[in-house]
Amino acid sequence: MFGSKKDIVGIDIGASAVKLVQLHESKSGFQLLRLDREPLPPEAVVDSSIMDSSAVVMAIRDLMLRNNIKSSDVATSVSGHSVIIRKISLALMTEDELESSIQWEAEQYIPFEMSEVFLDYYILGPDPNDQGQMEVILVAAKKDFVDEYIATFKESGLNPVLVDVDCFAIENIYCSVYEDETANIVALVDMGASGIQVNVIKNNVSVFTREIQLGGNSYNEELQKRFGIDSESAESLKLGLDSLSIDSETVQEALQGVTDNLVQEVRRSLDFFSATFADERVEKVYVTGGVSLTPNVLTSLAEGLDTAVEILDPFSRMAVSEKDFDLDFVKSVAPFFSVAAGLATRKLGDKL
Ligand SMILES: Nc1ncnc2c1ncn2[C@@H]1O[C@H](COP(=O)(O)OP(=O)(O)OP(=O)(O)O)[C@@H](O)[C@H]1O
Ligand SMILES: [Mg+2]
Repeated sequence: MFGSKKDIVGIDIGASAVKLVQLHESKSGFQLLRLDREPLPPEAVVDSSIMDSSAVVMAIRDLMLRNNIKSSDVATSVSGHSVIIRKISLALMTEDELESSIQWEAEQYIPFEMSEVFLDYYILGPDPNDQGQMEVILVAAKKDFVDEYIATFKESGLNPVLVDVDCFAIENIYCSVYEDETANIVALVDMGASGIQVNVIKNNVSVFTREIQLGGNSYNEELQKRFGIDSESAESLKLGLDSLSIDSETVQEALQGVTDNLVQEVRRSLDFFSATFADERVEKVYVTGGVSLTPNVLTSLAEGLDTAVEILDPFSRMAVSEKDFDLDFVKSVAPFFSVAAGLATRKLGDKL
C-alpha cells in the first residue's frame, strides 16, 4: 500500500526547510502516509530562489530515503517576486480563442518578457462589472527561476511532474478540507520564514493575492539587532529553546513588536482588498505556516483584523492512522505542511 507508483509526493521547498507529504486517495478520502521536514541552512533559499542547490538536494534525498518513498513523481511549488498572479478582464471568448491569444493579452499585464516566462491561466467566469467581459487569473513564473527548481529535483533523482504556486496549493487543500465553510469570503494567510502570502478567496476561487515581506525571519532580525546575537541564537531564543540569560519579558516584548507590525501589514492588505472590491469584507481568516505558532499571534490577528482567525489544519479531515502517527504531534506541526499537503492532493496530468 505504501508508496504506490501513482502517488505524487508533495515537496515544498521553503526558506527554512524542505517539507514532504505523501497521501493516498481512496473512496473515503485522503489518508496521510508520510509527513516530514528537513531544515535548510539559512542561506540555501533566499527570496524563494535556490542559492545552494546542493544543500536542497541533500535535504530532498534525506527525506525520500528516510521515509522509504519509492515513487519518483513529485509536485512542487514556487512563490516570490518571480511569480506574478494577476486577475484580468478580457472580452468574452472561447477557451480555444483564449489559448491562442493569451500570450499577447498577458504581455500588457506581466512585467517580464513573454519569452522569459511560463504562462498559465484560469477562467474565473463572467465579469460581474461588465457583461461583455470575463475574468481570468493569469499566472506567470520566470523560466530561469522555475528551471532552478526543476534542476534541483532532477539532481535529487526525482521527476517533478507539476509545478504549482504556494498560495494555490494552500487554496487547494483548504477547498478540499473545508468544503462546508459557510463564510463566502475568506483569507488564507501563509506565514512563512521569509514572508507572508495573502490569498483572498470568494466562493472557493482566488480573487486577490498579496505578498508581504515580513515573516519568521523578521523576528530573528529584531532579536539579533536588539540583543547583539547571531541568527542561530535568535532562532533558539525566539522558540524558547535557550534563554541566553536574557530576561524573558524583554524578549516577549520584542517579539510582540514584530507581531504588531505583521498584523498591521496583513490588515493593510485586507483593507486594500475591500477598497478594490466594492467594500466586500473578509469574513474569516485561516492562517498557516510556522509563524502561526508564535505565541499570541492568533489573538493579535483576530483583534487587529476584527475577524475570526483560525489555524488551517490540512489533515483535519484526513484519515491519520494512530498506529503510524502520534495525532497530537501531527496537529502541532500541521501549519508547516499546508503547501506540501496541497501539492500531494494533485494528480498526474493536472494543470497548474
Ligand atoms: N513555535 C514557533 N513559534 C514561532 N515561530 C516558529 C515556531 N516554529 C517555527 N517558527 C518559525 O516559522 C518559520 C518556518 O515556517 P515555515 O516552515 O512555514 O516557513 P518556510 O515555508 O520555510 O518559509 P517560506 O514559506 O517563507 O519560504 C521559521 O521562521 C520559524 O522560526
Ligand atoms: Mg512556506
